[in-house]
Amino acid sequence: MMPEKKITPEQALKEHTKLALKVAYHDQKYHGEDSPEISDAEYDSLRRQMENLEQNFPFLLDENPQSQAVGAAPSSRFSKINHSVPMLSLGNAMNADEVHDFIDRIKRFLNLPETQKIMIFAEPKIDGLSCSIRYEDGKLVQAATRGDGQTGEDITQNILTIQGIPHQLSGHFPAVLEVRGEIYMRRDDFQTLNETQEKNGDKAFANPRNAAAGSLRQLDATVTASRPLRLFAYALGETSDLLADTQSGIRDRLRDLGFPVTEKITLTDNIDELLNYHRSIEDQRSEIPYDIDGIVYKVDDLGLQDRLGFVARAPRWAIAHKFAAEKAITRLKDITIQVGRTGTLTPVAELEPVTVGGVVVSRATLHNADELERKDVRVGDMVKIQRAGDVIPQVLGHIPDARPADAEPFEFPAECPECGSLAIREEGEVAYRCTGGLICPAQAVERLKHFVSKGAFDIDGLGDKIIRQFWEKGLIKTPVDIFRLDEINQTLSPPLQQWEGWGDLSVKNLFEAISTKKTIQIDRFIYALGIRQIGQATSKRLARRYDTFENLQQEMERAADHEGDAYQKLINIEDIGPSTADDLIGFFAEPHNKDVVSGLLSILTLTPMPIIENDGSPVAGKTVVFTGKLQTMGRGEAKAAAEQKGAKVSGSVSKNTDYVVAGADAGSKLKKANDLGVTVLSEEEWKDLISG
Ligand code: IVH
Repeated sequence: MMPEKKITPEQALKEHTKLALKVAYHDQKYHGEDSPEISDAEYDSLRRQMENLEQNFPFLLDENPQSQAVGAAPSSRFSKINHSVPMLSLGNAMNADEVHDFIDRIKRFLNLPETQKIMIFAEPKIDGLSCSIRYEDGKLVQAATRGDGQTGEDITQNILTIQGIPHQLSGHFPAVLEVRGEIYMRRDDFQTLNETQEKNGDKAFANPRNAAAGSLRQLDATVTASRPLRLFAYALGETSDLLADTQSGIRDRLRDLGFPVTEKITLTDNIDELLNYHRSIEDQRSEIPYDIDGIVYKVDDLGLQDRLGFVARAPRWAIAHKFAAEKAITRLKDITIQVGRTGTLTPVAELEPVTVGGVVVSRATLHNADELERKDVRVGDMVKIQRAGDVIPQVLGHIPDARPADAEPFEFPAECPECGSLAIREEGEVAYRCTGGLICPAQAVERLKHFVSKGAFDIDGLGDKIIRQFWEKGLIKTPVDIFRLDEINQTLSPPLQQWEGWGDLSVKNLFEAISTKKTIQIDRFIYALGIRQIGQATSKRLARRYDTFENLQQEMERAADHEGDAYQKLINIEDIGPSTADDLIGFFAEPHNKDVVSGLLSILTLTPMPIIENDGSPVAGKTVVFTGKLQTMGRGEAKAAAEQKGAKVSGSVSKNTDYVVAGADAGSKLKKANDLGVTVLSEEEWKDLISG
């Protein structure tokens, strides 16, 4: 660390006031609004700088009223809790067709006949925040927020203050029981809370959900205790014994154990009844005293739930059927163009702020040039906008009678507004794209933001604003520079430590945060590269299919030949069609990308994908091909079960195939397996093998 500079008491007071104001601002952002703008590390650093000054100049404690105001705030935030059973999110169905699709998918996955009925449990989807509450021998021992689904924040003390959540279970209960549910605030309570907030000069919350979040995530649990929070329990996490064998049974048991559960539920195997139920609850929405944003449908039979499992972060056995979006009318002040990570130009509506479903909206997407033209939306128009759940608000159209006489049609720019490069629209594409590639600052910054984002390198302390600032100051141009930041900083004048808002400690913390990410799992690395159409799930599939990054890279170069087997292997991967394949191949063919990748590989250590669940399984690491019609399971289920045991599922037979599982009417693949001498198994033999 650098030696402390000598400063005068006057300078100390000035500096202290500045820091105290910043801390107060971030306290409010974090605790009051539940929307922190800086990382925990940056926050801690601000507080420590302030405390250092106080130690050296004790008069500051009396002199500076700001420090009194924040003096009570603790110096670090919540500790983390790993969820032993991940907390999942839910897929959405927006209309009746998508509900039918959901049920059809389930039947296909389970290989059930189309006419088969499936019992579905349905209940309102509460608009709050989920939590997991753990009981051991009946005693509430721990509670956590959902966090990223794997790791949440420890909110045990806060949960203990909420009315209606049992601290001690009585009667019959499993030794370990994790109850999952939604913490929410009723609308009338929210209203009263906001009145009090305003009376005390505190900021009002935007909606009951934000109020619930802000109230629950309080380091000082006495604040939580003063807020009118409630729980609805709807699912289980880890349990040492089964509570029931159906979802509806779980609900009844939870209710009997003293947990609040939703009132208006239904249980039916008839889709029309589900849809009627959805309609009826939607009609009652304004009379229900708390916010709900849809209905959750869950397969009732837990045995089937187990077979269905989940994909990415959502279960196959449940879906949220959303209610229609809330709408509003406001004036369109301007249309701006946003440039995305891959150069996509998106027109954005800049609006006169308006409240839609409890949230103030001042920007909305206009999607693309075609949509804009089709809707013929013009600056000055009164436009209708809608907000559906967490989806970005969108402009639906304009009110014809309200158009000002001088409103002109919007002309989509022929150039990228950020770098001036030509904007083009490739055949078959809806979006214009900036051709500036690497010289376009917007793309560069968006890529860097993606690189350090949660699902990628997840680097604490490198938020959006800081990335942009570092980019603008020339500190970081490519992802490689992030890992050379320490080195680059040493040549900088003044060094980062002396920049506004930075100090020795915060810089040290940032370098440490970066350094800990030098070892990264291969799928995160692939995702971080920001290749078009390659999301987290596809990155995982690629990592599993190609094992090492070097192999992936080589195979992508070989796959440039569309006639060769490398290309076939690539498009045989689930979710990878010709267009995604071309994006991948294109990425690895680009010289600059090669430079960045090799630069990164010389610094980083990539770790392999973990072997799934059972590395003792005889099929772990083996390559399997399913062919013909399977009798007891659908293709999707067969594939998921194989992958669960660590096998790789491929679509084509080669000498690298370990097993071909042949169902009825197997054709050329079976023949090829026999020709190559690959082991052929019947469906029964395969099931024996994986269950053994
Ligand atoms: S069941 C496997 N039931 O919605 C997930 N979730 O958007 C089981 N939610 O993370 C969830 N009301 O926090 C379920 N009645 C309800 C719910 C509900 C709200 C939340 C839950 C989930 C989120 C997904």
